[in-house]
Amino acid sequence: MEDRGFDLESRLESLQSQDLKRTLSPVDRVAERGYFAAPSGGELPVLEGSEALVFASNNYLGLTADERIEEAVTQAAATVGTGAGASRLVTGDTLVHRDLERQLAETKDTERALVFSSGYAANVGTIAALEPDVIFSDEHNHASIIDGCRLAAADTVVYDHCDLASLRIALEEQATRGGEDESWLIVTDSIFSMDGTVAPLTGIADLADEYGAWVMVDEAHATGLYADGGGVVQAEGLADRIDVQLGTLSKALASQGGYIAGNEALIEYLVNEARSFVFSTGLTPPAAAAASEALHVARHDDVRERLWDNVAHLRDGLEAMGFAITGDSQILPVRVGNRQDALMLADGLRERNVVAPAIRPPTVPEGTSRIRVTPTAAHSRDDIVTCLEAFQAAGEEVGLL
Ligand SMILES: Cc1ncc(COP(=O)(O)O)c(C=O)c1O
Repeated sequence: MEDRGFDLESRLESLQSQDLKRTLSPVDRVAERGYFAAPSGGELPVLEGSEALVFASNNYLGLTADERIEEAVTQAAATVGTGAGASRLVTGDTLVHRDLERQLAETKDTERALVFSSGYAANVGTIAALEPDVIFSDEHNHASIIDGCRLAAADTVVYDHCDLASLRIALEEQATRGGEDESWLIVTDSIFSMDGTVAPLTGIADLADEYGAWVMVDEAHATGLYADGGGVVQAEGLADRIDVQLGTLSKALASQGGYIAGNEALIEYLVNEARSFVFSTGLTPPAAAAASEALHVARHDDVRERLWDNVAHLRDGLEAMGFAITGDSQILPVRVGNRQDALMLADGLRERNVVAPAIRPPTVPEGTSRIRVTPTAAHSRDDIVTCLEAFQAAGEEVGLL
């Protein structure tokens, strides 16, 4: 009989031959340091003997091992339950979810907020539910935005990264093409995870006003880090000009899940029409409680100052060595250029027990390979010095310094 199945071995070989095959390397805990294991496929991993410093996570506020959050999780599991048991619309809507949504709405200066089981689900569910006719999307937007655009089956116009002139041309061309009754959505990350760049949100909001479009901003890498625990939207005082604010609970908020913040009509509409909300089990109560407590800590503790202090020291130190760092955020992409050099630099760091991955094509364009370095609030000054020393030694070894 003819084989109508899938030749996965040859697909994997093809990934391997192009240097694109990825592997899983477990670690003993999620914190600023840990013991890693080499990839072991389906076998039980064996942890390495020496501890590594982690400069590669999105645990920006270092809250994944915070006792206050652990306590909130334990309490939610004991009093509410370990899982939501059903979608929010059936029996999975609990007071823990409501408390988190109230806090998110307050932080994001909106009427309401709604949590999803992941940031990915929030992006695809929301963009598809809005059913825009045309989407204007930054060329470096996250994969979950791109997948949302595909699911929405909208005409998607990609504009140059953070380039207002390019966005204006795209809007103008669409306007001259007619389409009087079209609905338009401009969508952008606020902080771009591979570039560390910050979107020009005020300019985007101005263009949206001029052309009558809605704006959706993905604050996955900004939530918790800026003004009063908000994102770039709050730092720039734009909450009343951004129609849809999205974020994740899985980065600075040390949990799992995603959220949308906006006005009453938007949230009520998504409760009814976002398929990734309606047809998916509610966020687990412990995850909601962890995010609530983390947001409280982000707003009222000094973790944000500690993060930005570490960012400034690491950036200054790397620049003083002669490395070029792009962007203007807590994400420090150390530009190397050549993909082999980036891989050798990452290996050199790893040999010195510093984990910071090489980002190379196809994730970033050819010739722009980099090491993505992300300090957290939990790193000590000694950790920052160790990281800098590792960069100096590995950089010299590779011939970059
Ligand atoms: C910009 C951006 N948006 C959305 C997501 C998806 O969030 P989550 O990890 O909660 O699914 C991510 C995370 O990787 C992200 O970087």
